[in-house]
Amino acid sequence: MSFSIERYKEESRKVDTTGIEWDEVASHPLSKGDLFCLHYMMDIENHVPLYLSHLLVTRACMDPILTAFLACWNYEELWHGENIGKLLNLYGIEFDTQDRIANVRANLGLQNSLSILTTMAGSWLMKNFSAVYLSIGAINELSTLTGYGALIRKSGHPVLKDLLSRIIKDERRHFAFYYNSAKEWLSDNERAQRLDRWMLDRVWVPVGQGVKTQEEVDALALYLFDDEQGEEELLDLDAKIGRLPGLSGIKLMSKALYEARERVKRNPRWAWRLIENEAWSVTPHRSSPVGQLTGRHGERTAEEAATS
Ligand SMILES: [Fe+2]
Ligand SMILES: [Fe+2]
Repeated sequence: MSFSIERYKEESRKVDTTGIEWDEVASHPLSKGDLFCLHYMMDIENHVPLYLSHLLVTRACMDPILTAFLACWNYEELWHGENIGKLLNLYGIEFDTQDRIANVRANLGLQNSLSILTTMAGSWLMKNFSAVYLSIGAINELSTLTGYGALIRKSGHPVLKDLLSRIIKDERRHFAFYYNSAKEWLSDNERAQRLDRWMLDRVWVPVGQGVKTQEEVDALALYLFDDEQGEEELLDLDAKIGRLPGLSGIKLMSKALYEARERVKRNPRWAWRLIENEAWSVTPHRSSPVGQLTGRHGERTAEEAATS
């Protein structure tokens, strides 16, 4: 698996949706589980520009190759979120994308700022923090593309399959960058390997957790991977990450699935109730309405404008 930053810079562009049969979106059914996953995935794709703020404060960003990658990566991820939102809208689910994104961000509250500060402090105190950050990038990209593959399989929706297959190609390139960079950092660097292993075993959470609750993460994991093939795919994913120096035998996504199963054993309605109740809307933050967050107050009628 090779990656050339020069080639990536030249070739990076928004996902090409030419020829996607958007008119056909509503002609094929999507289950509640499919819709739950699509909302989750859209929110996490749309969260990337804010997540970037965590990455840019790290010492790793002294490296211009990394910042060149992030500049292109961020743009590509933006279009993943946009297109998943478009598909949901065409399916007949109405929401305002900008309002939804603003509400997701508002609901993060103070936790987001604290997380930026700890990431920044960690990266400047520990030289090898970059290894952790690059490994997490590789795990996140691989989990994302594995999740898209599983959703293609679960939904059997032809237009979704077409869209996600194109997005998966981008995610593969992202994975290649992070994986190769992590490998380079970890090779012949025992201190970095020890730190990486320690952090991944104790601090790592599946992609999206933090923006989404534990129960939402579990709902996605169980819907997509709680069968023989799904479990196999997560074990393969862990095995691929385990080929990074110092990470042999590591259990990440498979562990997340087993822990989700344990929680369902204790409470059979856990996670599945979110899917059954179509709990994929985002509630606006109580004290931060969208108008206040963005300064936009919607289109005013001529009459309203004249009387204000
Ligand atoms: Fe993406
Ligand atoms: Fe990606």
